Amino acid sequence: MTDSYVAAIDQGTTSSRCIIFDRGGALVAVDQQEHRQIFPKPGWVEHDAAEIWTKTQEVVAGALARAGLRADQLSALGITNQRETTLLWDRATGEPVHNAVVWQDTRTSALCAELGGEEGQDRFRERTGLPLASYFSGPKIAWLLDHVPGLRKRAEAGGIAFGTMDSWLIWNLTGGTDGGVHVTDVTNAGRTMLMDLETLQWDPSILAAMNVPESVLPEIRPSAEVYGTAVGVLAGVPVASALGDQQAAVFGQTCYGVGEAKNTYGTGSFLLLNTGTRPVASRNGLLTTMGYQLGGEQPVYCLEGSIAITGALVQWFRDQLGIISSAEEIEPLAASVDDNGGAYIVPAFSGLFAPYWRADARGVVTGLTRYVTKAHLARAVLEATSWQTREVVDAMYEDSGVRITTLRVDGGMTANGLLMQHQSDVLGVPVTRPVVAETTCLGAAYAAGLATGVWSDLDELRAHWRRDAEWTPRMDAGEREREYANWRRAVERSFGWQE
Ligand code: G3P
Repeated sequence: MTDSYVAAIDQGTTSSRCIIFDRGGALVAVDQQEHRQIFPKPGWVEHDAAEIWTKTQEVVAGALARAGLRADQLSALGITNQRETTLLWDRATGEPVHNAVVWQDTRTSALCAELGGEEGQDRFRERTGLPLASYFSGPKIAWLLDHVPGLRKRAEAGGIAFGTMDSWLIWNLTGGTDGGVHVTDVTNAGRTMLMDLETLQWDPSILAAMNVPESVLPEIRPSAEVYGTAVGVLAGVPVASALGDQQAAVFGQTCYGVGEAKNTYGTGSFLLLNTGTRPVASRNGLLTTMGYQLGGEQPVYCLEGSIAITGALVQWFRDQLGIISSAEEIEPLAASVDDNGGAYIVPAFSGLFAPYWRADARGVVTGLTRYVTKAHLARAVLEATSWQTREVVDAMYEDSGVRITTLRVDGGMTANGLLMQHQSDVLGVPVTRPVVAETTCLGAAYAAGLATGVWSDLDELRAHWRRDAEWTPRMDAGEREREYANWRRAVERSFGWQE
């Protein structure tokens, strides 16, 4: 088994990539392509699923070529994906019936308010772990069925399939209209708002409330299991895992013990804490979500703090304000001053996700005086990420009683040492980055390799984890709490702008 390789596809919000890992968990080759972001109206975000499928096949071929490997040298393929993004396709032709409606899309806000009725945002929280918000897939399915002419009838007759990107890719990889398997895993199914967290099955009463016919839904399967065998570019390779990208990062960071947590810094940031084999209900604005399920074993649950805008605030600072010309420039600019000069930026660009779930919040800048320069604002941009993370860490402690003792981090923004230092300062705990920063793909590869015997158990995977860098707290506790109080006051000013 010394020359076993495992491939993983990460179908993300802005790009699709394929990475091939060796048996030691080291990266052998990577290929990546971006796809179009389609904005038909303010607040609407769509993807062309046919484009995504084409680009996925291209990056798989590209990664194999770069690695100098043939498909028959791969022991398994794992899939990880942007979560919640919703697609319906025709089972007979394999054609999408509409662009995919992306997780960031807010077109279902009014529908969610209507579904909440008198019970409000938490109507389905006990069974699904989620508040009613435009983020999740179920209402997006209902919207498509009601807005694409004739679609509901076709769905009721059994001709239409729903999937998040994992289902779409697995169906196509295993043959599509020629025998493709229509499945999803528990982590992705758990983000539809249609799955019962305890039974791991679709909940008939929620399907009825949302008017979603069961005939469109995929079969829910564990996250690590052979779902089928690929045809085409990966002919013969077992398709052996599926995990939502944030859950895959938990798995790749080897957060297998209760109380272990990771934070992934991308467009937004998603902090997940392993809470073990029972779901923990949140009273503080976190999501109760699946962590992973290996074959027939007991599922593992997480509490999740989903932050919509973190890296996207740096992009805004670059593209909309033009203060920097590349994302990397923010670090030296912010480091040219000692502090934020009294300024705080709350990036509530599409409302606030965890722990507030406020659709009426909009972005604010507070504390401006003539003293404030672009360098202070650059600092405020970075600090917005660490303060939002502090809020979800506090909520996690209140919900679970678990105090995070070290935070494992990954994702693009972890290259920013100033931000990572501030993160450690405001949490008061060490922040640790692993050598393999591609933890999302690594997690999908690990799960697929476990399902096919490349790796024998979690201890073997844990032994691969190596620390690359660590930041330890330097700020004194008094300053930290004074700053945090300022941040909280700024957040309050972001409420009440728009429904
Ligand atoms: O829930 C949304 C999340 O899965 C998106 O992740 O990395 O594709 O922006 P990403």
